Amino acid sequence: MLSLFSLQLWSWMCPSLTILYSAEFWGDIAKDFFWKTKHTGQFLDYNFDVTKGEIFVKCMGGASTNICYNLLDRNVHEKKLGDKVAFYWLGNEPGDEMMVTYRELLQRVCQFANVLKSQGVKKGDCVSIYMPMVVELVIAMLACARIGAIHSIVFAGFSAESLCERILDSQCSLLITADGFYRGDKLINLKLLADEALRKCREKGFPVEKCIMLKHLSKETEETALGSQSPPAKRSCPDLQVPWNPDVDLCWHTLLLGASDECEPEWCESEDPLFILYTSGSTGKPKGVLHTVSGYMLYTATTFKLVFDYQPEDIYWCTADIGWITGHSYITYGPLANGATSVLFEGLPTYPDVSRMWEIVDKYHVTKFYTAPTAIRLLMKYGSEPVQKYKRESLKVLGTVGEPINPEAWLWYYNVVGEKRCPIVDTFWQTETGGHVLTPLPAATPMKPGSATFPFFGVVPAILNESGEELEGPSEGYLVFKQPWPGVMRTVYGNYQRFETTYFKKFPGYYVTGDGCRRDKDGYYWITGRIDDMLNVSGHLLSTAEVESALVEHESVAEAAVVGRPHPVKGESLYCFVTLSEGVMYNHTLEAQLKKQVREKIGAIATPDYIQNAPGLPKTRSGKIMRRVLRKIACNERDLGDISTLADASVVEQLFQNRCTTAV
Ligand code: WTA
Repeated sequence: MLSLFSLQLWSWMCPSLTILYSAEFWGDIAKDFFWKTKHTGQFLDYNFDVTKGEIFVKCMGGASTNICYNLLDRNVHEKKLGDKVAFYWLGNEPGDEMMVTYRELLQRVCQFANVLKSQGVKKGDCVSIYMPMVVELVIAMLACARIGAIHSIVFAGFSAESLCERILDSQCSLLITADGFYRGDKLINLKLLADEALRKCREKGFPVEKCIMLKHLSKETEETALGSQSPPAKRSCPDLQVPWNPDVDLCWHTLLLGASDECEPEWCESEDPLFILYTSGSTGKPKGVLHTVSGYMLYTATTFKLVFDYQPEDIYWCTADIGWITGHSYITYGPLANGATSVLFEGLPTYPDVSRMWEIVDKYHVTKFYTAPTAIRLLMKYGSEPVQKYKRESLKVLGTVGEPINPEAWLWYYNVVGEKRCPIVDTFWQTETGGHVLTPLPAATPMKPGSATFPFFGVVPAILNESGEELEGPSEGYLVFKQPWPGVMRTVYGNYQRFETTYFKKFPGYYVTGDGCRRDKDGYYWITGRIDDMLNVSGHLLSTAEVESALVEHESVAEAAVVGRPHPVKGESLYCFVTLSEGVMYNHTLEAQLKKQVREKIGAIATPDYIQNAPGLPKTRSGKIMRRVLRKIACNERDLGDISTLADASVVEQLFQNRCTTAV
């Protein structure tokens, strides 16, 4: 691995050479995949400069392939991995387990692809998927990929309203969901939420024609499967509610009866869309990040292989949810492209107790483990004893993603979980980047706790100051990238203008990440956090505008401003200032209503931690809210800097006096 590190340094120090070698580097990697037709011309063609015309990235023009074929058929037939386990699935309840081999996965994906075709889904159509962490979620996404349909997975923790917004934006004609699932001891009636989303879509003039529902909690038996259109029997979960509308609803299991397990893949052009995944945008409206077939396939496969130092005998476990990009790239696409065996876990790190993760590590001899700083900080609170109850001898590499990891959590992960044996790969990337962009290579890159270290091959970062000048040597500023890599996003679905404005307008010639970054004297990159109006709560990006608009939709709220306040486990928590309408009194009932309103509009991850009654907000003379000042108030920091532009400085003192000190 040491030579890999020299290559990593080399690529970073000589950006112009990177362009040359990247075609050869990726070209060699591409040889391991199946192409129906070979690519012609340049490996990577692009324009990153708005002043020179439209932004575009094209990878392997002229080539055609199918990503599902490469993940499954190629592994089963060419690599003879048919009997290898693709996933060990573990349910929320200990003991609820199953496994699926590559051959079985291929058959089940083909069957479901035929089901989708029988429902009229064609290449280029968009399918929404709103499911818990079950093998069928992987099956649904790969079935879409097999027939060239675009999947749009919506995290099952999102609300009906959020699902509706995403369905409308992507104009999906079909929704795939499940009856319900448990998170710890909490039942989520998913079908109920899906139905509400579809009702809202109808109200907005967009009727979704079909909804396929998997019976996950109301486990399937032969006779219920044959009972075609009926809703599932409520057996083990008396509180499960499964409304059924025979005009729209279809049963996953019934549809499978008689579906063939052979399905010729649809050969797609390199730049055909593979999926849309929504990520928060600073305007409050989520952006549909679009990824395409070939570049994403090569990039996720290669980053997975090198960043986790993948070996065929590995048992790999990424604890993310497939509803986020980490799950897309590093549960489904990257690992399967390598023929890896993964753990797919439905549950929580704390259920039924805080040793659950380590128990699973020992039981399955997990070698590579990938989680988020928020999970590490959560477990750290319980000390080392729950970890040390288990041996963890199998572990070789530990990964982290989602937010900056504080050195204290890094050291606990390294010392306690990995017992100083396992390198930590702190991987910085985004929904937009498709895969890791700044990351160490295990056992090759010397680590520094809290630094994502250096760029991956072909990635050329720069740090800019406010005027857009590139800073050399040790410096701090905006993190940008100077050229694309195969897995970078191609556009915002249905909104090229927004793509250009969000990522390329501020500094022409660069992709702007929205993150701040520092480079130290040794050239290491340290992410300092978002520099736009985005918050990172438990590794999930949220826009302040999104939460504010959920708050002002309440009739008693005239204005709202939301800022982040540091939180020991979640990284950031939501601190909300609300100005009430004339004559409305602030009380606990209203507070509870507001909290509920945000949960219902966005989802549980956006639940406000603090709500403060703010009769006035600090504004500039032109009426702009000074969030910088609000952040100081939320943290009780009196050093406010320059506030001379404030229209009325007295509101600041008032807000300090009425600060919230306890979470709602
Ligand atoms: C943050 C998640 C520091 C960052 C894969 C980024 C990180 C945003 C790291 C993207 C890391 C992710 N160190 N910050 N290792 N990884 N981030 O789109 O602010 O959900 O812009 O993708 O998470 O979040 P997203």
